[in-house]
Amino acid sequence: MTKIRAIRKTDSAKALKSIRFQNLTRFSRPRVKAFLDFICELIDENVYIQINKKPTLKWEKAWLKDLKKKIKDGEAVWLGAWEGKKLIASTQARRGLWNERDNASIGLSVLKSYRRKGLGEKLMRMIIRIAKKRLNPKNIYLSVATPNLPALSLYRKVGFKKFARFPNWAKKNNKYFDVLYMLLKK
Ligand SMILES: CC(C)(COP(=O)(O)OP(=O)(O)OC[C@H]1O[C@@H](n2cnc3c(N)ncnc32)[C@H](O)[C@@H]1OP(=O)(O)O)[C@@H](O)C(=O)NCCC(=O)NCCS
Repeated sequence: MTKIRAIRKTDSAKALKSIRFQNLTRFSRPRVKAFLDFICELIDENVYIQINKKPTLKWEKAWLKDLKKKIKDGEAVWLGAWEGKKLIASTQARRGLWNERDNASIGLSVLKSYRRKGLGEKLMRMIIRIAKKRLNPKNIYLSVATPNLPALSLYRKVGFKKFARFPNWAKKNNKYFDVLYMLLKK
């Protein structure tokens, strides 16, 4: 793990001082419980991520095993931020399947009390760099719910541009909303 290096704002630098980044490799032995707690906290908060049902420890273990295999096979990269033993942010890039394997999709989440400190932006810029190096994709893209204004603003800031809108594509609290697909400018 490496200590955080550059953070934009002085206050943020102070707030994030104790945070460490981990680049997951096939040799890492991450604590499954930390991953489970992380995803459950986001689901409890009802944020705009795809998963809406809390996984079991067994499911999470299988998910992590699969992720590590994908990392080993050059199909994915993952980067997390830890404060002590708590996973506080996670981002990953994954290849598509078969003849779409040269497209990498990115996901990112930061726990509520660590937001607005520059962490999401830093992780996004780092995962783009790592994905370019390890996956060498032709396209880097992501999807985002239209009501998720913080995420939309972050993605635009780092250089993603909308290339498709899927109307009424996902549902939360019994309400449908559009999903945007965004492509990273070269
Ligand atoms: C979206 C998310 C990752 C942003 O993380 P973060 O660490 O708070 O973001 P940062 O502090 O690095 O902010 C970077 C930029 O994002 C945008 N942003 C972040 N929070 C914002 C907010 N509440 N309102 C408006 N813009 C916001 C801004 O453009 C900001 O740049 P600025 O500081 O120059 O204004 C975070 O809100 C999150 O994890 N949300 C819940 C899960 C989620 O929605 N994931 C994305 C699924 S597509």
